[in-house]
Amino acid sequence: MSKIYVTRPIPEPGVGMLRDAGYEVDINSDDRVLSAEELKAKVVGVDAILSLLTDKITGDVLDAAGPNLKIVANYAVGYDNVDLDAAANKNIVVTNTPGVLTEAVAEHSLALIMAVARKIVEADKYVRDGKYKQWEPQLLVGEEMFGKTIGIVGMGRIGSYLAKICAAGLEMKVMYQDMLRNDLMEGEFGIQKVELAELVKNSDVISIHTPLTDETKHLIDTEEFAVMKKGAILINTSRGPVVSEVALIEALKSGKIAGAGIDVFEFEPEISLELMTAPNLVMTPHIASATTKARQSMSEIVAKNIIAVLSGQLPINPVVKK
Ligand code: DGY
Repeated sequence: MSKIYVTRPIPEPGVGMLRDAGYEVDINSDDRVLSAEELKAKVVGVDAILSLLTDKITGDVLDAAGPNLKIVANYAVGYDNVDLDAAANKNIVVTNTPGVLTEAVAEHSLALIMAVARKIVEADKYVRDGKYKQWEPQLLVGEEMFGKTIGIVGMGRIGSYLAKICAAGLEMKVMYQDMLRNDLMEGEFGIQKVELAELVKNSDVISIHTPLTDETKHLIDTEEFAVMKKGAILINTSRGPVVSEVALIEALKSGKIAGAGIDVFEFEPEISLELMTAPNLVMTPHIASATTKARQSMSEIVAKNIIAVLSGQLPINPVVKK
């Protein structure tokens, strides 16, 4: 009987599907991230690993699993936590969960944009602190997004859906940076492909939707913050290291930009005191995909990929190094 190791409990239906398919499924019942040593001990002899973005699936972990291992199914659309070269060398398939968290992540990005632009978190605290005495003409005045310019870094599924919401719903001008031109989106929503330098210089909101790779690490650094508009808002729901944390703190503290909304952190789960105390910053704990629908669909997709590979078929969502 094929064995599957699930590194942490996930929502159904995935585990049920795997058990119904006749596999032996062992789950880390501690509901916490395992250390590298614990993970290596747990995966010995398994045929499949169902991993999370918090698990570092290194060559050592793949070695520890041994020759039966056929697939690492990552419960995330991002897969920077998996050593793709090591997996390819061992003919181990790696899969992800694209397509089912698009709306959830784009909506969360929009929520962060609005939270920063309309000072929602600050306003909530103001009310709770008992400071609200009467309506005031100059109290917590924010900015409208209607008609503003958003620059989207990465015009994949999530970037495209956010572009659609912003262009069609908020009548925003949308510019984007990507290696590939998105003719469909350009035709339908009048969005414009530009270089990163132009995007950071001319956007009122900059939203990051690119995977973390060697090329995208610190894509937004001191140089990029230096040319942003004074009123710019930076949003990151992709991966923390795409934005230099030091440069972000400096841009917020110096008032170089108006604010930021981030769901991901360069050193997550570590958050420095400097970041924690930076002004005009709204933070959420990597929950952009955390909707009931998205998390259930992700569960279904990981299970389908494992079942496909363990029954000798092609994976549905293979990932390869770009
Ligand atoms: C992903 O799937 O990569 C997301 O970051 C999870 O929220």
